[in-house]
Amino acid sequence: MTDILADPFDLTGRIALVTGASSGLGARFARILARHGAKVVLAARRLDRLDAVRNDIERDGGQASCVVLDVADEHSLTAAFDAAEAVFGVVDTIIANAGVSISQRSIAMTTEQFDQQIAINLRGPFLTAREGARRLVQAGSREKRHGRILFITSILATAPEVGLAAYGASKAGVAQMSRVMALELVRQGINVNVIAPGYIETEMNRDWFLTESGAAQVAAFPRRRLMREADLDGALLYFASDLSRAVTGAMLTVDDGQSI
Ligand SMILES: NC(=O)c1ccc[n+]([C@@H]2O[C@H](COP(=O)([O-])OP(=O)(O)OC[C@H]3O[C@@H](n4cnc5c(N)ncnc54)[C@H](OP(=O)(O)O)[C@@H]3O)[C@@H](O)[C@H]2O)c1
Repeated sequence: MTDILADPFDLTGRIALVTGASSGLGARFARILARHGAKVVLAARRLDRLDAVRNDIERDGGQASCVVLDVADEHSLTAAFDAAEAVFGVVDTIIANAGVSISQRSIAMTTEQFDQQIAINLRGPFLTAREGARRLVQAGSREKRHGRILFITSILATAPEVGLAAYGASKAGVAQMSRVMALELVRQGINVNVIAPGYIETEMNRDWFLTESGAAQVAAFPRRRLMREADLDGALLYFASDLSRAVTGAMLTVDDGQSI
């Protein structure tokens, strides 16, 4: 029977890999997972930034390791998971968070801009989840493992926004991909879910929200404010922990009412 006094968000023994952990939401996710006991592998392209997050986590008493990763490159992903396994063991909690956004109206968007967003925001999460799931399935035949794959999409997967055709398409693609993967992996003990955040101030959009048009956009949100990175802590811990044992193929919108 479950101990009702135990910390429901205890992640001790879990090994997590967070892509895009060098800034913004990914850095926050890594800190929160480590704070709750998970060993965390921080992955992105900028090693100096990853090192800074790792230092923070270690100062806080957590355990973390850094690996350079380009999510659009499958060889880079194989190497990153190999490195993660060598340090901590098989990754059981995969947070596919890395992403980019290039705002450009469709008639002006270059093929390269389109391809870059699809490569990082759609192929990247696929390659990340595929690599992690392959290893979990393999490990599962030797020992019963718990697995979690969490994708970060956006309210812009469903709401159209001028300039974001490729970004919106990539996020909508991830949303549907997640449901297929959830179905495929349901018997392997791997839960696949999605958080769809609203606008949160990070490096991705900080300059935009400093403009007059950006400020006007915030003024039009129901609560007339941007969200903070910490606003996703609850959703992250829910999907990473045993509380979501029976939840797979789900998407949770966390947007402060922005898409109502
Ligand atoms: N901020 C928002 O309002 C918001 C809302 C909804 C959804 N999201 C989503 O949340 C995720 C995180 O965004 P953020 O707001 O935290 O933006 P951010 O601060 O710009 O972080 C993006 C992260 O992705 C990493 N990244 C980009 N390309 C990569 C690649 N090819 N390989 C590996 N890592 C790569 C970056 O690291 P390196 O440059 O070091 O590689 C960085 O750590 C994205 O998927 C974004 O679409 C954000």
